[in-house]
Amino acid sequence: MASAALVLLGGLALLVAVYCGLDPFKHSSMAEFPGFETYSVDLLPPSLVPAAEDKEDLLQRAEVRFLNQVQGPESVAFDPQGRGPYTGVADGRILFWDGKEWSDFAYTSPNRSEICDPKPSPMSYLKNEHICGRPLGLRFNKKTGDLYIADAYFGLLKVGSEGGLATPLTTEAEGVPFNFTNDLDIDEEGNIYFTDSSTNFQRRNFMQLVFTSEPSGRLLKFNPVTKETTILLRNLQFPNGVSLSKDGSFLVFAEGCVGRLSRYWLKGEKAGTSEVFAVLPGFPDNVRTNEKGEFWVAIHCRRSIYANFMGLYPTLRKFILKLPIKARYHYLMQIGGRLHALIIKYGPDGELLRVLEDSQGKVVRAVSEVEEKDGKLWIGSVLMPFIAVYG
Ligand SMILES: *[C@@H]1O[C@H](CO)[C@@H](O)[C@H](O)[C@H]1NC(C)=O
Ligand SMILES: *[C@@H]1O[C@H](CO)[C@@H](O)[C@H](O)[C@H]1NC(C)=O
Repeated sequence: MASAALVLLGGLALLVAVYCGLDPFKHSSMAEFPGFETYSVDLLPPSLVPAAEDKEDLLQRAEVRFLNQVQGPESVAFDPQGRGPYTGVADGRILFWDGKEWSDFAYTSPNRSEICDPKPSPMSYLKNEHICGRPLGLRFNKKTGDLYIADAYFGLLKVGSEGGLATPLTTEAEGVPFNFTNDLDIDEEGNIYFTDSSTNFQRRNFMQLVFTSEPSGRLLKFNPVTKETTILLRNLQFPNGVSLSKDGSFLVFAEGCVGRLSRYWLKGEKAGTSEVFAVLPGFPDNVRTNEKGEFWVAIHCRRSIYANFMGLYPTLRKFILKLPIKARYHYLMQIGGRLHALIIKYGPDGELLRVLEDSQGKVVRAVSEVEEKDGKLWIGSVLMPFIAVYG
């Protein structure tokens, strides 16, 4: 009897193994990437992760603006005259709020058609993002008034203050095309610093990028005079937001998989080197510098204990990712079960200054960017159909 049960159990285990290996119904979160690899995430000691919380959940008091008028507004920018906001939305357009209404300002794809028309959910755009465009980071050049755009599919682009179709500036470095251009900032001379989050995964597969922690992300620089694109740092695991310090001596950039901000020196004797600036309790998105030279970091969501554990064990992670479990569930495990909101302000030297949260995700969820203007925080989210304003 016992041996029959063992044989049955063995057979069952074998079937499960074969099923997972073949994933015949394409239920696994990595079904589209059969040869995927997983990479270890070099986490810093948990003691360095800030424990600070916003017990009052102050972001629940944020005002929800433009509900259902802007879908997935990742980046929020104001032009040099202070007009706006301008924001890039899920259907690929960049919209402009003139104080009374929204209008179309610019777009990144030369091939827009009816397939890019508004749809009920931000997720329904994913399939055609490579045709319609997906503007992520937006920044105005304060001197020229031109808007610079990091589009996830179309690289780095620029559009004049009259708007319309943006002009591509660069789409590759050292012969390797960008596959997930994400955020940018501009220095006094007009050089653009920007990130390509991955060479192998596109934005629509950002979850798979986090799950594998694949290290092909790059920090780049585009020189508008020579038109050269140079790689400042490579082998990054999901580099995301970029923001220059107020004095321009360094920039900080966010690393999504590791959950930290790094400082890259642009001037002085440390120029060209980088170091850890702040350890973050979650998966960071964009970073924006305010007038005082402080950095607002949008954290997509807090990292769960599960996410930290999985970061350390790539082989186990690879096995789990092959199970017929949908990406959505892996994602929810990584962020602790539900979407919520967390933003943190750091001082010019990386000291933690302020934490604002909506830990239940009642009002604000999955923040992508925080832009401070006249004491108010304009909060974008790649997943939400509104902009939240706090303060
Ligand atoms: C636009 O569409 C044309 C024709 O379908 C195609 O050849 C071209 O590569 C597309 N351009 C971009 C930027 O997707
Ligand atoms: C970009 O990523 C997709 C998969 O997400 C891949 O099929 C494609 O080859 C990549 N593009 C480049 C230029 O490497």
